[in-house]
Amino acid sequence: MADTTGRFIAPEKTEEEVMEASLRPRTLDEFVGQDALKAKLKVFVSAARQRGEALDHILLCGPPGLGKTTLAHILARELGVEIRQTSGPALEKKGDLAGILTNLAHRDVLFIDEVHRLTTVVEENLYPAMEDFNFDVIIGEGAHARSIKLKLKKFTLIGATTRSGLLTSPMRDRFGIVERLEHYPVKDLQTIVTRSAKILGVQIEPEAASELAARSRGTPRIANRLLRRVRDFAQVEGDGRISLEVTRSAMERLDVDQFGLDSSDRRYLYCIIDKFGGGPVGVETLCAALSEERDTIEEVFEPYLIQEGFIQRTPRGRVATDRARRHLHRPVNASGELL
Ligand SMILES: Nc1ncnc2c1ncn2[C@@H]1O[C@H](COP(=O)(O)OP(=O)(O)O)[C@@H](O)[C@H]1O
Ligand SMILES: [Mg+2]
Repeated sequence: MADTTGRFIAPEKTEEEVMEASLRPRTLDEFVGQDALKAKLKVFVSAARQRGEALDHILLCGPPGLGKTTLAHILARELGVEIRQTSGPALEKKGDLAGILTNLAHRDVLFIDEVHRLTTVVEENLYPAMEDFNFDVIIGEGAHARSIKLKLKKFTLIGATTRSGLLTSPMRDRFGIVERLEHYPVKDLQTIVTRSAKILGVQIEPEAASELAARSRGTPRIANRLLRRVRDFAQVEGDGRISLEVTRSAMERLDVDQFGLDSSDRRYLYCIIDKFGGGPVGVETLCAALSEERDTIEEVFEPYLIQEGFIQRTPRGRVATDRARRHLHRPVNASGELL
């Protein structure tokens, strides 16, 4: 991005990005929940530190906002090394990858977000780097061209993906550690909301924190986002303290219901029920009807709706469940029976 004088400026960070960085836990102990995963990571980190070796490559899978980026940064910090961050779509050419890899120091972390979106060329060049810490470069042209191997320092690749199913199997096989982050229980989200409120310097009643947690779709990012919005209401229309009452009224005005579904979730469910008789309806048809990207539907809307039993994914398409019909006051099933 260039400003009016033609100089290049960094794109401005959004309020959310700035806030996320400030609320990000810095150590594994500060990272709330995911206890089994944390316990394993602690062992792997200690073992690698004791041996003075690079940690094995790690793949972190799971829906957006559950802490993949946060964990990558925590791991680098706990290992006492630097982290370089990039993403699948940002690494367009082999040269982009070469530049990054050759600058890594021994045991450093390379974090590649959206690792399922690497180009084939970049991915194929990553294989020898991950396996043998070699990078092949071609020198010269035509008949004189020859390939030489650059020796890289031993580093740790941490890949994050919201769509582990889209990762190629050779890529997945090169990660020594593959872990999945799951949605958080309300209790953990309550702890996260309480911790974030403390950092933001705002008082919150325990009941209010629990209410917010219950409406956060199992997702820390959403919990923090709702907290910031409720804080606005408490500040402008109350005495600044976040009470249960302020929280409930804010949720109503933000259109977030008791299951944490917002207007886009409900629009998705109404679409299946009202336009397609409750399904099954193919995902492509739904994308067209809703004017949404397939990725958004599959990564953002559906995981939580499936987990909470509002829809089912069948071979013939998506189906709205009785629970969804009751919740949306469409109490008649596909055969016309009252639920
Ligand atoms: N276990 C956790 N404890 C506390 N805060 C968390 C936790 N997981 C995520 N967060 C917060 O949620 C936000 C989103 O996390 P992030 O790591 O960016 O998710 P992802 O990379 O999986 O999309 C960040 O502000 C982060 O601090
Ligand atoms: Mg992330």
